[in-house]
Amino acid sequence: MEMLITLKNIFAKQLPKMPKEYIVRLVFDPRHKSLALCKGDVPIGGICYRPFYDQQFGEIAFCAVTANEQVQGHGTRLMNHLKQYALGENITHFLTYADNFAIGYFKKQGFTKSISMPRERWHGYIKHYDGGTLMECYVHPSIPYTR
Ligand code: ACO
Repeated sequence: MEMLITLKNIFAKQLPKMPKEYIVRLVFDPRHKSLALCKGDVPIGGICYRPFYDQQFGEIAFCAVTANEQVQGHGTRLMNHLKQYALGENITHFLTYADNFAIGYFKKQGFTKSISMPRERWHGYIKHYDGGTLMECYVHPSIPYTR
């Protein structure tokens, strides 16, 4: 619980445009899962996502690394671990509404603006965000993401 609270605070600080109550609601919503990258016992970044198991995809709601730890590879490590975990959960794709200034990061993690999943597989499941760009990543079953 302490880790989730720290992670929620990182999201709130790094994603100032997101209403704080909304971040709290999703991070503590049992339908959402969070992956935290820790230094010792203290999270320095994380990803909160909602798996849609029947649709075989996950929606990344929040992704952030604390300010003084950014651009050191932590964001890539987080995403690789998320992909590796997703493979064991039968999730084949991730979708996210990327903030415009984070599009470069998501592109480097294999996300594209073109959505390959059939629309009926995801439309109506994920929340639309104005000002964000919908991006998709295919999780390849034969790539060892964390090797
Ligand atoms: N724009 C363009 N490129 C970027 C950005 C960015 N905002 N951030 C990182 N990169 C690049 C890095 O230069 C690096 O490139 P390289 O592999 O050629 O060296 C690559 O992406 C990976 O960088 P990492 O060091 O692994 O990423 P980092 O630990 O900095 O984490 C993150 C990236 C999560 C975006 C972090 O910078 C952050 O928390 N930013 C503020 C919050 C934010 O914008 N989150 C995303 C919002 S959208 C959403 O949550 C759905």
